[in-house]
Amino acid sequence: MFTMQAGAQDDAEYQAWMKSIPPNVGAIRNATDAAAAAPAAGKLADTFTQVADYWKKKNAEDAVKFAETARDAAKAIQSGDGDKAANLAKIQAQCGACHMAHREGSAGNFKIK
Ligand code: HEC
Repeated sequence: MFTMQAGAQDDAEYQAWMKSIPPNVGAIRNATDAAAAAPAAGKLADTFTQVADYWKKKNAEDAVKFAETARDAAKAIQSGDGDKAANLAKIQAQCGACHMAHREGSAGNFKIK
C-alpha cells in the first residue's frame, strides 16, 4: 500500500471523470435497446464507482450515496434490468443533487466543495 496525497492531482482526475459522463449519458439516451446501451452504462458504472470511492475518503456520506445510486442505476441499465428511461432519469437526478451540495463556481471554473 502507498498513500496518495490529496490535492491538484486528485482534482484533475475527478474533473476527467466528470467530463467523461455526459457522452455516456447521451449514448444511453440514444441507444435503441438495452444491449446497445450496455457499453456506455458499464463505463458510467465504473466512473461512479471511482467517484463513490473518492467521497468515501472524504467521509462525505451524502455524496457517496448520490454516486452509489447513480452507479446502481447504471448497472441496472447495463444488465437490462427494469426500464432504461426510468433508470436514466434516476442517474440524472443524482447529478443535480450532488452538484448543488458539492460543486461550486461556474462553467469553466468548477470546484469541489
Ligand atoms: C457525487 C457527486 C456528483 C455526482 C453524482 C455527479 N457529479 Fe458532476 N461534478 C461533481 C463535482 C464536485 C464537480 C466539480 C469538479 C470539477 O469540475 O472540477 C462536478 C463537475 C461536473 C462537470 C464539469 C466538469 C468540468 O470541470 O468541466 C460535469 C460536466 C459534470 N459534473 C457532469 C455530471 C453529470 C452529467 C452527472 C450525472 C449523470 C454528474 N456530474 C454527477 C460532483 C458530482
